[in-house]
Formats: sequence, structure tokens, C-alpha cells
Amino acid sequence: MRVEFDPERLPLAILELFRIKQGEMVSAMMHLGTRLNLWDTLGRCGPCTSEQLADEAGLKERWVREWLHCMSASEIVQHEAGQFALTPEARVALTASDHWCFMPGVYGPPMTHDEIERTAEAFRTGVGMTWAEHGDHTCHMQCAMSAARQESFLVPEVLAAFDGAIDRLQSGDARIVDVGCGAGVASRLLASSFPTAAVVGIDPSERAITEARRKALQAGLDNLTFEIGTFDDLDRFGPADLLVTLDVLHDLPRPQDAVAAAGRSLAADGWWLVAEIRGRGDLESNRKIPLLPYMYAMSVFYCMSSSLSEPGGEGLGTLGLHPARLKEMVEAGGFTRLARHEVASDPTNWYYEIRL
Ligand SMILES: C[S@@+](CC[C@H](N)C(=O)[O-])C[C@H]1O[C@@H](n2cnc3c(N)ncnc32)[C@H](O)[C@@H]1O
Repeated sequence: MRVEFDPERLPLAILELFRIKQGEMVSAMMHLGTRLNLWDTLGRCGPCTSEQLADEAGLKERWVREWLHCMSASEIVQHEAGQFALTPEARVALTASDHWCFMPGVYGPPMTHDEIERTAEAFRTGVGMTWAEHGDHTCHMQCAMSAARQESFLVPEVLAAFDGAIDRLQSGDARIVDVGCGAGVASRLLASSFPTAAVVGIDPSERAITEARRKALQAGLDNLTFEIGTFDDLDRFGPADLLVTLDVLHDLPRPQDAVAAAGRSLAADGWWLVAEIRGRGDLESNRKIPLLPYMYAMSVFYCMSSSLSEPGGEGLGTLGLHPARLKEMVEAGGFTRLARHEVASDPTNWYYEIRL
């Protein structure tokens, strides 16, 4: 490791530190864009002047102009001769709601003072926060990330790769249980893709389940129900032909108990679909992962915090449930088959097909 101070490196090092701060500020500006419906308005009206955008959005021009300048400096918006337009790629990512990369909700409101304080306290006590304790904004952020990833490929790519699963789920009396369903993005998707199956979403977060029920009602899905519960309650909902656990296991204080519960609740010839982050096992191997600092930050504030939200929790965290670890856990839980699937448009997760 280098120990000598190098004054020539200092300006670049300081610039890098400010880039990190810049990300936080620009993300908050992007959140304003979402809150004020500026993405859709600009997508519809651009190229346009700041006056035209402000008029269309019903906002004050001076504020909109400064926002546009920030977005243009961030290369999200193009600027030519007083006219502004989203770049074609930003237009997809921020306005095309049916595209897998649509996730304006990820640039959500900054973390609250309370979340920062509680996380700092967790470094002293060792005990973190559950997902539900973060509040509504986290529930929305999670939905934003999940919707983009899951809606476009969960059924046509992931389930289609599970031998015989689609036929079984279309066959009439199939039972699907989405455990750790959050606000129910995947549950809704499965209920609409398999209208003759009975789908249940379970999550311990009351706010997530309330939101899930509201959206299911809106979508008119009468084969879908949601219950407040955890893996400890899973026995009540089986035997499932398809059990779904998307980005949940690494968040749990007791993941091995969850694997055991999954084994008890799965029909003998059923499938357990597990999505887990593509963690490699240690810091140096993880360096290949895109956006690695973001992943570790997500872990401290959300995933590891959740998995340490009970004293004695396992503390796996965002990148902690790598393939070798998962294999050990499912074998110990009595499963005999494990296959890993990749989806080209999801660089973040692996999708595991797990069977008894
Ligand atoms: C990262 S979120 C994933 C939500 C959803 N599966 C998705 O992909 O959008 C993790 C979820 O696990 C839930 N959870 C936490 N502890 C749980 C437990 N013991 N059993 C089931 N779910 C749990 C949290 O409330 C949260 O909604």
C-alpha cells in the first residue's frame, strides 16, 4: 500500500471526493424532476425553451431554467441554442415506463436525518433497521428498482428457463407464494401472467402490504391476495408449486431458517425461484461488480442493516449471499437441485432455480 503523500495526486483525489458529493446533489435534483413531472413534460415537449417547459409544467421559469442547467451539466439533458431535450437514452430510462431500465423512482428523496442517526447508532449497538422502519420512500424506491427489473423478463426469460414451470403454472390450480414480496411488483406480474393460479404475497412490512393491496385492487386482479407475515408463517400458505424470493434472503437475520421454511412449504415437484445479487464472496473478487460502492452503501443502510435488525442476526448484506454460500445453505435445507440463470439485461442479479 502507498504511504507517501503525493501532492500531484491531491487535486484529482479532491475532485473524486466532490464527485461523490455531486452524485448526492444531482440525485436530489433528479428527484425534483420526478416530483414535478418534468421528465414526462420534457419528453413530450422537447426540444423546447425553459419558458415553454415551465409553462407546460405549470412552474416558475427561473427555477426550471436552473434545474435544466444542472441536468444539462449532468448530460441527462441536451442543450442547443436555448432549446433543451432529454438525451434519447435518458428519455428511455426516465419516461418509458414499459422498458426494463425505467427507474426514475431510484433517484428518490435523500435519506432522512433519522435514518442516518439510526444507522450511526447501529455501528455502536450492532443492531440495524428493518426495511419497513425506513419509511414510505424506501418502499417506493424498492418498487422502482423491482418493477424495472422484474416486469420485462421474470416470466419470459427466467421462468421460461425453468423446465416445465410455465406449463405447470398455466395448468389451472397452481399455487404461487411470493415471500418477502415488498409492495408486490412480482406478485402482480405473476397473478396477471397466470390468471388461473392462486397467488399470495407475504411481507412483514405493513406499509408494503397496504401498498401492494392498493395496487392489486387497482389492477383488478382477483387471483391475488397479500398477507402480513414472514418466512416463519410460510407453512400456512403451502404447498406452493412456485415459491418466489426476490432479493430477500441476504436481508434476513436468520436466512437458514428461511431456507428450511421454504423446503417445508414447497410442493414435492415445485420450484423455488430465488433472486440474489451477484456477490462474489470477498472485496477483491467483488471489484468486478459495476457500481460496487453503491452496493456496499445499500448494504450498510438497507440490506445488512435489515439482516442485523435482530440481535444475533447473520448480517449477510447486499453482496453476502454468493453462489457457494447459497449452495451450502440450500443443501443443508434438504434441497437437491440448484441451477443458476443469468438475464442479459440484469447485470445485478442471478436467478436460481431450486428444487427438492
Ligand atoms: C429488498 S426487499 C425485496 C422486495 C421484493 N421482493 C422486490 O423484489 O421488490 C426485501 C423485502 O424482504 C422483506 N422481509 C424482511 N424480513 C423478512 C422475513 N423474515 N420474511 C419475509 N420477508 C422479509 C422486507 O420487508 C422487504 O420488503
